[in-house]
Amino acid sequence: MREKSDIFKQRTADTLLKLEGKIALITGGASGIGAATARLFSQHGARVIIADIQDDLGQSTASSIPNATYTHCDVTNEEDICQAIDLATTLGDGKLDIMFNNAGIVDPPKPSILEYSLSDFDRVLGVNLVGAFLGTKHAARVMIPAQSGCILYTASVSSVIGGAATHAYACTKHALAGLTKNAAVELGEFGIRVNCISPYCLATPLAKKFVGLEQDKELEEVMGAHANLKGVVLKSEDVARAALYLASEDGRYVSGHNLVVDGGFTIVNTSFQRGN
Ligand SMILES: NC(=O)c1ccc[n+]([C@@H]2O[C@H](COP(=O)([O-])OP(=O)(O)OC[C@H]3O[C@@H](n4cnc5c(N)ncnc54)[C@H](O)[C@@H]3O)[C@@H](O)[C@H]2O)c1
Repeated sequence: MREKSDIFKQRTADTLLKLEGKIALITGGASGIGAATARLFSQHGARVIIADIQDDLGQSTASSIPNATYTHCDVTNEEDICQAIDLATTLGDGKLDIMFNNAGIVDPPKPSILEYSLSDFDRVLGVNLVGAFLGTKHAARVMIPAQSGCILYTASVSSVIGGAATHAYACTKHALAGLTKNAAVELGEFGIRVNCISPYCLATPLAKKFVGLEQDKELEEVMGAHANLKGVVLKSEDVARAALYLASEDGRYVSGHNLVVDGGFTIVNTSFQRGN
């Protein structure tokens, strides 16, 4: 049995600032998962740069978070990424500790691949995959000389299973799991860890648009019916906590990993459960 003093020590550790003095850049940080992560990282002592294309929302998100700064950055544009990283390193006295490649889009569901236009496919690849590649490249540019750093991506359950979203979306999210492994292999030599997080569906503007529902509650009810884990509703803050784990000392030996935050959704084959 654990001594009372051990429990106290654990509680103290849980309330420590886990990112004190760290500088973090979060793409897609104006809204949803990115905004929740910016908030949590700031609560844990980090200075946060929110990089997004929604300037008004990004400014107001940043102004509601202590130690947060907004910068316009289209992740498909290498110059924008380069400038955002340079801003972060200037604010961080020459260093960037955490690069969270989180920005993403999804195209409308299509009944058939025959209706898929190349431009729709390319657009999703540009943001979700090329954007993450550019973020990784320029983060590595400043992390390699520092011999440390943490690179994260938001993938999805669509990095593990098919049929949950569009072809382009599933391709990009599978590819992020691949980029995680490849970049972790190369950058581990420099003390840089690379990981991705794969959430189940949660109520953000991106998911509501894809599913065609306006209210958070409506989406949570629909997704709750398909979920494996009942009685808990996945929130942006849960994904932010996974990011905090990976970005902090708690995850200091974790690299090349795809942390699935899905309440067991992707490990179940429901066809073996029902009516047997
Ligand atoms: N919500 C879900 O159900 C869910 C599940 C799994 C994974 N994800 C992933 O989570 C990530 C964050 O999405 P979210 O759900 O928080 O949605 P969201 O719509 O709240 O946030 C996405 C953000 O990305 C920004 N963005 C889009 N294109 C950009 C570009 N070219 N450059 C910079 N920023 C851009 C948007 O402006 C927005 O602020 C995405 O990668 C998404 O694929 C979401």
